[in-house]
Amino acid sequence: MAKVLTEEMVSSWKEWVSDNLLIILILVMLLLILQDSVGDLRRRWFAAFVNWFNKDVDVKMQELKKDIFADLTSSVSHFPEFRKSGGLKILEIGVGTGTNFEFYPEGTKLTVVDPNPHFKQYYNENRKKYPNIESEEIIVSTGEEMYMVPDDSVDVVVVTLVFCSVKDIPRVLRQILRVLVPGGKFYFLEHIAEFDTTRHALRRRIQNTLTKSGVWPFVFDNCHLNRDFLKDLTGTGFSMVKAVRFHNHITHPIFQLIQPCLKGVAVK
Ligand SMILES: C[S@@+](CC[C@H](N)C(=O)[O-])C[C@H]1O[C@@H](n2cnc3c(N)ncnc32)[C@H](O)[C@@H]1O
Repeated sequence: MAKVLTEEMVSSWKEWVSDNLLIILILVMLLLILQDSVGDLRRRWFAAFVNWFNKDVDVKMQELKKDIFADLTSSVSHFPEFRKSGGLKILEIGVGTGTNFEFYPEGTKLTVVDPNPHFKQYYNENRKKYPNIESEEIIVSTGEEMYMVPDDSVDVVVVTLVFCSVKDIPRVLRQILRVLVPGGKFYFLEHIAEFDTTRHALRRRIQNTLTKSGVWPFVFDNCHLNRDFLKDLTGTGFSMVKAVRFHNHITHPIFQLIQPCLKGVAVK
């Protein structure tokens, strides 16, 4: 009896599918289209959010960056044509709105990569304020796939607040090593998983919950609160890595979650 019923159910189900095939196809297509435009809307919102964040919350991060990038102005380019002008060939990955312009020496040639095309408007507005830097248009690509940037072609790679969002950290690091000229430097500043779990156990738990539930990555374009890329960095093949974990002074009730940070420099 049960078998007959199952067979009947299967055949009526097949009949229903074939009767409604067109509607099913249209619904699937609509879902795919919507998925794309929802993704695009999220990227658009994220670009606007980062622009706000940079102006209102990020001030303390900018203070920190002064310290990290201090020796950029005294660095000498490996490329003779830049040595005369005192500029450097810099690649910034995940440039966003272009918050790091103020740290680059005059005469710098800046190549920038970012997978989110909605940052272009903010970046282009910002770069107008720095006519002494030869900044290029955003190359819309991920750090993992930036094969258009030639091997050994830049003095410096800069990455700030990006490794929390990339899909494949070791791959981005290998790309950084590839594009840096021998002796070139990689500067970084990233928020990471809470490392002082004795004093800040609750923060670590909140970071894990918000990230593992997918809530934080969904709202903030794949940002993860519970990463730390130092182990990957030391295993990549740089000749020297100098890094320090510390807490920044962001006091915003939500963004205190990104107080734990890792900053430093690695040399090819
Ligand atoms: C929080 S914003 C930081 C922007 C800027 N670096 C700053 O310090 O203000 C993160 C940036 O990383 C970019 N991003 C995300 N995934 C990336 C990837 N796989 N490769 C390169 N950039 C990526 C985002 O589009 C965004 O511009």
